Amino acid sequence: MSHYNRKINFIDNNGSFRIEYPENTSYLYFPLSGEKGLKSSVTPILGGDSMLDQERFLLEPVSVENLHNNKNTRNFWLYMEDGSVWSACGSSAEQESRKFTASQDKSSVSAGFMWHTAKRENAAHSLTSEITSFVPYDENVEIMSVTITNNSSEDQSFNPIAAIPLYGRSADNLRDHRNVTSMLHRIETIDEGVLLKPTMSFDEKGHRLNDTIYFVVGHTGEGQKPLSFYPAVTEFLGEGGSFTKPRAIYRQQDGVASGVKIDGREAVGGLRFAPVTLKPSTSITYNIVLGITDDAKNITEINKKYQTKAQVDAELENTKKYWLEKVNVHFHTGSGDFDKLMKWTAFQPFLRRLYGCSFLPYHDYGRGGRGWRDLWQDCLSLLFMEPKNVRDMIVANFGGVRVDGTNATIIGEGLGSFKADRNGIARVWMDHAYWPFRTLLLYIEQSGDFNILSEKVPYFKDTLVMRGNGRDDSFESNEENIQKSSDGSIYLGSIIEHLLIENLCAYYEVGEHGNLRLRGADWNDALDMAPNRGESVAFTHAYAGNLADIASLLLRYEKSSGVHEIEILEELRQLIDADTTEVSTIEAKLACLDKYCSSVDSKVSGKTTVISISELAGKLTEMADSLRSHLTKNEWVKGEADEGWFNSYYDDNSRPSDRYAEDDEAVRMMLTGQVFAIMDGTADKDKIQKIINAADHYLYRSEIGGYRLNTDFKELKLDMGRMFGFAYGEKENGAVFSHMTVMFANALYKRGFAKSGYKAIKTLADTALNFDVSHMYPGIPEYFNADGRGVYPYLTGAASWYLLTMITEVFGVHGNGGDLEIAPKLVAEQFDSEGKAGINLNFAGKNFDITIINESGKEYGEYAVTEVKLNGSAMAVSDGKAKIDRSVIEGLNNTGNYITIILG
Ligand code: G1P
Repeated sequence: MSHYNRKINFIDNNGSFRIEYPENTSYLYFPLSGEKGLKSSVTPILGGDSMLDQERFLLEPVSVENLHNNKNTRNFWLYMEDGSVWSACGSSAEQESRKFTASQDKSSVSAGFMWHTAKRENAAHSLTSEITSFVPYDENVEIMSVTITNNSSEDQSFNPIAAIPLYGRSADNLRDHRNVTSMLHRIETIDEGVLLKPTMSFDEKGHRLNDTIYFVVGHTGEGQKPLSFYPAVTEFLGEGGSFTKPRAIYRQQDGVASGVKIDGREAVGGLRFAPVTLKPSTSITYNIVLGITDDAKNITEINKKYQTKAQVDAELENTKKYWLEKVNVHFHTGSGDFDKLMKWTAFQPFLRRLYGCSFLPYHDYGRGGRGWRDLWQDCLSLLFMEPKNVRDMIVANFGGVRVDGTNATIIGEGLGSFKADRNGIARVWMDHAYWPFRTLLLYIEQSGDFNILSEKVPYFKDTLVMRGNGRDDSFESNEENIQKSSDGSIYLGSIIEHLLIENLCAYYEVGEHGNLRLRGADWNDALDMAPNRGESVAFTHAYAGNLADIASLLLRYEKSSGVHEIEILEELRQLIDADTTEVSTIEAKLACLDKYCSSVDSKVSGKTTVISISELAGKLTEMADSLRSHLTKNEWVKGEADEGWFNSYYDDNSRPSDRYAEDDEAVRMMLTGQVFAIMDGTADKDKIQKIINAADHYLYRSEIGGYRLNTDFKELKLDMGRMFGFAYGEKENGAVFSHMTVMFANALYKRGFAKSGYKAIKTLADTALNFDVSHMYPGIPEYFNADGRGVYPYLTGAASWYLLTMITEVFGVHGNGGDLEIAPKLVAEQFDSEGKAGINLNFAGKNFDITIINESGKEYGEYAVTEVKLNGSAMAVSDGKAKIDRSVIEGLNNTGNYITIILG
């Protein structure tokens, strides 16, 4: 294999990269999308798919296994004068042989944010093709700009043909009337290409008239239209043909003219351009545009807009610029490759904003929209990169909370668009109420906007009541999904009230061991088979942390606003007034919750009552303390001498998930329980060190990404969840699941264990960058499997947490009630050869270039912040942190600010 260079090469400082012979790695694909809704994926040979949503797929939906099975990829063919055929996309390429032959293509992919260039060179044909694909950020089209170069010393003539098979219907029709839905197709050729407008959207629940047009149009780089067309698959392939050997091309059949209509066939955007003769060392370009619109007039516009190479090149530059500006956090450390990897990590939250958790080949589930916890966590990084819209988003999203503390689980397009559940299943994820507060807290620290807490917001209402255990038959299915008071008016409560309802209801919903019930699952979606007796010890730590932190936030709010009392829904008092010592038994807690939920199971009273902040904060602190002392007393698992960890769960037979055994093979340890025990404060320093030792012993595998999610239980635990049905090392069953590994790192940094935190994030990054192991383009994958392959790339909450951890913990740049504080936790090797590390980011609408100088190369723990300069002027250092007041920041220019921090 010596002729392959199989490393990721970064080709610029923006993270753009090149990989040679990419088709020799399976499962590779790259996302291309815009802000208007079109979402594509492209493979090295331009397979992949493209869609607006579940109902409107432009190209046939693909799952990862289709990437090597399907032949109906985007294609561009050359029929040569000598009768041979060459696919500029690689469909005719010979497979890898032991020896490189002239008929085999040399190939590479280069890519940057939202652009992808596939290059192929064929010695036998003396041709090079370079195909750049991108989706303009403000149009629902994917553009393929195809440039063919003649490498020979003689003229070469060929017929060029673009062929993009169009699917044009709902993904559901892939295995639901695939053939019948082709009968709905109405295909038409126009001067520039092929249009497909099905008559109806096929849905046996109610067929609908279809307005959507799917199209492929194109021009030469000089703006010339195609000569003829192959619009129907049957004619294009011919009897016995295939997409890798289309008879129409191999037999040089004439296409049909513009103005032809064909009904009831599978469609293909087959565009045959005029024959061309290329002089030696010259090139010709074709622009192929595929897209979706509801208005035929748009296609006319698009044809004018992307008619020439110059227009397409300019649009490509616009697209690049748009996304480069979006990713506005930059790192400088001792490793240039790491810094470039961080560009992709910072870009990933945008991809999640666009794709949700669906619509890329591994993510072959879901129907669009975003899940509740994902939405809140994605906001964490967008708070740094797109902070303008975040306040509105936060306020609107609180409107998804039900008055029993549960919430709508799917968030659609547009602010305040909620659905109870994707599949109409009444499932309650017990972690959901944890996340909104975490995001809100970060927002308040960054902005100093304590007033958001008193903002009034509605509650979500549907038939589900009693935390998913009951139905409100008085709620009409056509009613608005908004909670009403008994007088029929919409009930509005403050964001504080929403937080209280979420976290107090969680506090009271305990299981047999006094931990919070697991219900439908927690963060780990795959713990979905212990709804009766299951408990999440992990999230009991988490909610304890929330209760304590809400208490201290309320006291800060009191101080900043001068407000000493808050108004809350009268019924809620039951959950606050219950005395923690009296309501300490499991039965008493459940009875208290039941009473509250019954009192709000249809309309709320609408009456409010006033409570003093100090009393409320005191109660919340008591509750947090009672949970923490229970956890410390009852859930600690003693391991070998210097090891120990917290039990993470109870199964549906009420047995603990984690256990120590002398035989390592019999030990059961889960990472999730440790993360929240550390992050949310239950574990003291001694316990944290023991957890680290145990995690290093049982969970850490440096060669596959680092900390795994759990040890191998070697049991199909039907009393815990589907995860135990997965092979060990896949997804939630013991993969290195980046999201939890990064949260582990975040927790360790937060509690001052920077070297251990660094180990967790560095192993992830090193593995991602090691193409031989990870087999993936740069970025943080959802997980690394047992072989170290990075899978489910791009769409993962891990990216948001990684970025957050790098900014607020590693570089230690964070808000404190709106003021800027900097307290770096970088380890010595993260500084460059001059002892410098840097971060460029926006804070309070101003851009800062922050340089941290560690001239003597001291290690974390040995250095302290000794000097701070803002634009050259010395600033205060207190508690070992650089501190810059918001009032100072507000007086600065928007750009050109620099902060220097000297460590000594
Ligand atoms: C995915 C889901 C997330 C869930 C996690 C664990 O994580 O999106 O909601 O908590 O699996 O089951 P991701 O890595 O995509 O953020």
